[in-house]
Amino acid sequence: MTKANSNYDKLPQTYLFVEIAKRTAAYQAKNPKVKIMRLGIGNTTEPLGPIVTKGLVGGAKKLEDVNTYSGYGDEQGDNRLRSALAAWYQKLGVKLEPGEIFVSDGAKPDTANIESIFDKREVIAICDPVYPVYRDSNIIAGRKIVYLACTDKNEFFPELPKEKVGLVYLCSPNNPTGAVASRAQLKKFVDWANKNKAVIIFDAAYSFFVSDKKLPRSIYEIPGAKRCAIEISSFSKFAGFCGVRLGWTVVPHELGKLNALWNRRQTTMFNGASNIAQEGGLAALSPAGQKECLKTVSYYMENAKIIKNGLVRLGLVVFGGENAPYLWVKTPKGLDSWSFFDKLLSEAHVVGTPGAGFGKYGEGYFRLSAFGHRADIVAAVESIKKNLML
Ligand code: MLT
Repeated sequence: MTKANSNYDKLPQTYLFVEIAKRTAAYQAKNPKVKIMRLGIGNTTEPLGPIVTKGLVGGAKKLEDVNTYSGYGDEQGDNRLRSALAAWYQKLGVKLEPGEIFVSDGAKPDTANIESIFDKREVIAICDPVYPVYRDSNIIAGRKIVYLACTDKNEFFPELPKEKVGLVYLCSPNNPTGAVASRAQLKKFVDWANKNKAVIIFDAAYSFFVSDKKLPRSIYEIPGAKRCAIEISSFSKFAGFCGVRLGWTVVPHELGKLNALWNRRQTTMFNGASNIAQEGGLAALSPAGQKECLKTVSYYMENAKIIKNGLVRLGLVVFGGENAPYLWVKTPKGLDSWSFFDKLLSEAHVVGTPGAGFGKYGEGYFRLSAFGHRADIVAAVESIKKNLML
């Protein structure tokens, strides 16, 4: 019998958000009349604006005309889109060439696949709690993982790794804690990585939620980062493309061979993002498109404020929710996070994400997402206020 990859046996049985969906569905089946409010997975809910929609429709229309039809696109993604992304970085004071940018179908696959360009013996460091994709992809690859605790004592930003590691994954604004790294915090890691010849994988999927000008939106705002960091980002949360699928990864030329390796990996195992989605992305990056998308981002951030204010008034301890769409709530009365999941669902009919699902140090916390229709967010907060027995 052919052997399966036994590293899969080391993973939790189901992916976190699949588990939550399963438990929620089971509760709904038992309580069919209950209206469940979902603040669990960070899934966008608000419709696209006319500018981005026009881009997507225009992309589809091109396909019905023999003169504008296209099949496979440019190798690393549409040249126009990569130039538009380079121009976007330029506004942050970051100079990138289109050849350093790889368009993809989203940040999730890129954060999962990037490990493949590194030696399997490289030890990786990830935060705990962490977006499970970095952990699970490296478990599947059979790598040794070092966990960096992120707690309220270090403002949910890790200390430098104590042992020798080749790769560190950082995410800011952070999923799940909603903490946003300062320039000084990122500089510490960039300097460490350059000194130790390590690589930082920086997940910037939520960078568009940063409105505070003092906070960095790209790791390349930190001097020296192009020598040690790969940045992965996404149109999902910024442009509402969770279902459309579009993202990008920056592998600077200063990282030497890694740019060519990622190109090799992508051209072998990926055939490019949808040409329609890329037209939508181009529209989203136009000045008017950015304005349109940022309006929706502000809408979600207003949701975050409503949730935070409501819970704080109840006496709960809440982190995040500022410059980030996630709120990290300390579970009351020392409840473990899955018990709080059950309690919140059964008493207030609200779904969130148990912190333990993101790692050991997530225990005792609970993540709420600000992605949702305003009426549902308000109803969820009201229901928590009224029905949650604290
Ligand atoms: C989350 O809820 O953590 C995110 O929606 C997951 C993702 O973007 O893949």
